[in-house]
This record gives sequence, C-alpha cells and structure tokens, in this order.
Amino acid sequence: MLFAINQDKCNRCGICAAVCPARIIKFKDRNSFPVPLNGASLVCIECGHCVAACPQGAFSHRDMQPEDCIPIEKKAPLSPEQVEVFLCSRRSIRVYQEKPVEPGTLKRLIEIARYAPTARNMQNVYWIVIYDKNELNRLGGLVIDWMRHLIRENPEIARSLHYNVLIEEWERGTDRIFRGAPHLIIAHAPARDHYAAENCAGALAYLELAAYAMGLGSCWAGYFTTAARAYQPLKERLTLPQGHSCFGAVMVGYPKHRYYRIPLRNKPVIEWR
Ligand SMILES: Cc1cc2nc3c(=O)[nH]c(=O)nc-3n(C[C@H](O)[C@H](O)[C@H](O)COP(=O)(O)O)c2cc1C
Repeated sequence: MLFAINQDKCNRCGICAAVCPARIIKFKDRNSFPVPLNGASLVCIECGHCVAACPQGAFSHRDMQPEDCIPIEKKAPLSPEQVEVFLCSRRSIRVYQEKPVEPGTLKRLIEIARYAPTARNMQNVYWIVIYDKNELNRLGGLVIDWMRHLIRENPEIARSLHYNVLIEEWERGTDRIFRGAPHLIIAHAPARDHYAAENCAGALAYLELAAYAMGLGSCWAGYFTTAARAYQPLKERLTLPQGHSCFGAVMVGYPKHRYYRIPLRNKPVIEWR
C-alpha cells in the first residue's frame, strides 16, 4: 500500500490531495478517507508533501512516517529583511585560512544540500569530498595540465581565457584553481538524467549558503568543473561511477578576511507582461 491514513486523526480536510504534485490521492466522497488512485505507486515521486502538509499528522507514506519528520515551527525562522541581508552578503571566498574544516561540518553541509529542489524529486546528486590537501593539489595539477594541453591544441582560445597566466602563477606557487582552499566538494550525477546539471547546481547553491551560515567560505571551482568533463587524465583520477559527469564543485574552508559591505550588482532586467 502506498500510504495509510490514521482514521482517528484524519479530519478529511483534503490538503494531502491538494498538495500532491502527481494528483494521485482521491476522496470517494466528502465523508471518506483519502485513497490512492490506481497505479499511484508508479507515478508517486516520493516528495513527502502529503505527510508534510497534513495538519493532523494522520498521513503515513510507505517510506515516510510523520513522526520521523522534523516539525516546522509556525513562526518563520528569519524575517524577510534578515533573509535579504543573508543572501546578498554571501561572497565567493578566494582567500582561506590554513585550518581544515571538521569532516562532520562538511557532511552537515551536504545533508542540508539534499533539500535543494530536484526535478521530479530525483535526488540524483552524488558527492565527493576531496578532504586531503595533497589530493586537492594533485587535482589542481591535472587542471593545469589540461590548460597546457589546450594551449597546444587550441592556442587562441586558451590565451583568450588567460590560461597561460594561470599556468605561470601555478608554477610560481599561486593556486588560482582552488585558491588555496583546504577542501573541495564535487557534485556529480548520471549524465543522461534530465536536469542533472540543474539539480547539481541547485544543491551546490544550497551548500554555499549553508556554508556561509556556518562561518565557512566557499567558491565555485569553474576551471576544475570544465576540466573534469573534458580531460581524460582528470576523469581517470576522479573515477566517477560509469555514466556520471561532474556538474559542479565548490571549494570550502574558513575565510581569511571578512567583508564590510555588499558590492553593487547590475539592475535586474525584468519584462512585465
Ligand atoms: C558556475 C560558476 C563557476 C565559477 N568558477 C569560479 C572559478 O573557477 N574561480 C573563482 O575564483 N570563482 C568562480 N566563480 C565565482 C564567481 O566569479 C562569483 O560568483 C562572481 O564573481 C560573483 O561574486 P560573488 O559570488 O562573491 O557574489 C564561479 C561561479 C559560478 C556560478
């Protein structure tokens, strides 16, 4: 059975059916309890909205019991003003303290990132934490090798992207690939999944915000991500599961400097229709 109703608690309000994205919960009449439509198991995306939105805690999904879910306080945890300042004051951090981050803290970031939206609730984002600084340096070296390779194969494009400058700096001991961060968190997914890229990007966006809330700094590792998709030696080092691609990665560590003001951004281009 896809779901069960505690009939002592259910007041037949119909909210479970209203919030179900697949519309697979029905009421035969006003006095009946909710039941699944035929074939409901095949289309249920297991988002848990039926369990989460039931005011009575009467709805149990096959894989989700209301008592296992963390309750949400009625009062909003942050005011809109606080949220605005929080979101606008996060910055990409490119100067880090040498201090490592506790593995448990990095795990907590990933656990929060699981709550980012994924298409059809696929939850198809997989993670690799490069915790070891030596391994991170090795990966940085492979990104630099990829840049050297591009300069040989496609000098015009490589130069327009200033890869020669990044290589020279690397050779002088300045890491513009991972900015001297102690750790890297990589998001990968089955490459053929629809929305694999969007799901990974959304999860990494959550992860960056959670990192900021915990006093950590982060920054997308764009050079690494591009190289991880294109350069065979780097792919071999990463050993992703068969059919998976890297869809993004962020460096994480304790920031060395704080920011005192929010930089200006372009005005949004909005067309009202
Ligand atoms: C997809 C993506 C790739 C990025 N790659 C890099 C990178 O390789 N190195 C870097 O220093 N910053 C990288 N960034 C950070 C952007 O430069 C940064 O978000 C932008 O300048 C705005 O600054 P803010 O994040 O502090 O608001 C990347 C950002 C995104 C979204």
